[in-house]
Amino acid sequence: MQVPPTKASHAHEVETPHDEVNRPSGGALSGKRVVLGISGGIAAYKAAELTRLLRKAGATVHVIMTQAAQAFITPLTLQTLSGNVVATELLDLTQESQIGHIQLADSADLLLIAPATADLLARLSLGLASDLLTTVALACQAKLVLCPAMNVNMWNKPQVQAHIAQLLSFGAHIIGPEQGELACGWVGSGRMVEPSAIVTAAESILAAEQKRDLAGRWVVVTAGPTYEAIDPVRFIGNRSSGKMGFALASDAVRRGAEVTLIAGPVALDTPPGVHRKNVESAREMAQAVLPLLERSRPPDCIVMAAAVADHRPTEVATRKRKKQDLGQSPQIALTENPDILRSLGEARRGPHPLLVGFAAETHDVEAYARRKLIEKGCDVIIANNVAEDGSGFGTDTNRVTILTRQSGDSVLRQELPLLGKSAVAEKIWEHLLPLLPAPRDS
Ligand code: PMT
Repeated sequence: MQVPPTKASHAHEVETPHDEVNRPSGGALSGKRVVLGISGGIAAYKAAELTRLLRKAGATVHVIMTQAAQAFITPLTLQTLSGNVVATELLDLTQESQIGHIQLADSADLLLIAPATADLLARLSLGLASDLLTTVALACQAKLVLCPAMNVNMWNKPQVQAHIAQLLSFGAHIIGPEQGELACGWVGSGRMVEPSAIVTAAESILAAEQKRDLAGRWVVVTAGPTYEAIDPVRFIGNRSSGKMGFALASDAVRRGAEVTLIAGPVALDTPPGVHRKNVESAREMAQAVLPLLERSRPPDCIVMAAAVADHRPTEVATRKRKKQDLGQSPQIALTENPDILRSLGEARRGPHPLLVGFAAETHDVEAYARRKLIEKGCDVIIANNVAEDGSGFGTDTNRVTILTRQSGDSVLRQELPLLGKSAVAEKIWEHLLPLLPAPRDS
């Protein structure tokens, strides 16, 4: 007797894409929109399982495939599993009208690329927009998570490692690769992390993103250099780009703080949600910062990341100083600027605000930083080695050691590796959170 075909009635008995659609998981991926990029490596076949698990975790999945990826797995498979049209072409009229690439980029809560081949990593690190996936990646403001997969010898090449370092400095998260037997027959590092582990990592990245642990707090960050005028044309300045201070402001606002950013002359856009006040000289910065202590509700924390000039020309010429008037060896007399951090340390009464300084040093970094921590009366100082390649002024990365004053002038130290400035900012806020004074009723 022939048994008539029946339709499974229980989702757990037969798993189809439709019985799992956005099943709420309560995790960080629940209700989130993941754009899943697939590039052309043998691990592309694992993207099918990854799509399934992402949906199981409650995410909506929109897949973008490179041309090479389609040689390993078909768009139809991904379309069926994701329940959404798969995007493959940048310059295709129909696809662009159905799913515009900017719309894809703007709507993503997470851009996850698995597998990420050596070629794709190179193009992402250079900022190329040579196909749909790299164009969306360039336009996308969401967290970028990359899961590299390739032959072990490719992975170990300095070129690939340089691209990875560059992408990390841009704030990308890199998951894997793992050690193991590779499809090409080699054994070593290069295997894409298993889909279930990728989903777990994506959840924790989004969970960290969603942390609002500075909600209800008011923090003030200073950033950039100061310019000390010599005449209407010239000034004494320094090489600070403002990147470190802006990264701190940006991460604080992401964590839910009200953020006032007092910026010296820099060419950076204001991070969304941040209140910015522009200043030029050290005295202007002092005027913007010091009165904040007088407020009935002073800030919870002030972070002085600005490179404030210690001195300014004693006299500022009202007209351009002419070369012929200056003689053989022109001199500029200097006057000491107010030390803003020291004044804050002296003026504050009680625990508000938590006072955080930076110490930019080229040698004996920690010894000088410790001295500034005590002498300027701050709670924490970030010792910044500005002599090392990739660290300090103008760079996208930084190497710092966080020094925290304990009772009796003893100091706790936490050394961080070379990281992107946004990752350094995250680590600094994580360190400062437990040190913040108790919140006050507003
Ligand atoms: O802006 P970027 O290009 O991203 O570079 C980041 C940075 C290197 C500028 C930053 O990480 C940094 O180290 N900032 C502090 C630079 C500095 O001026 O260090 P300092 O050791 O000279 O000063 C010690 C502290 O006193 C600093 O917190 C400074 O803001 C403060 N200070 C200094 C002089 C002064 N007159 N008033 C002050 O408040």
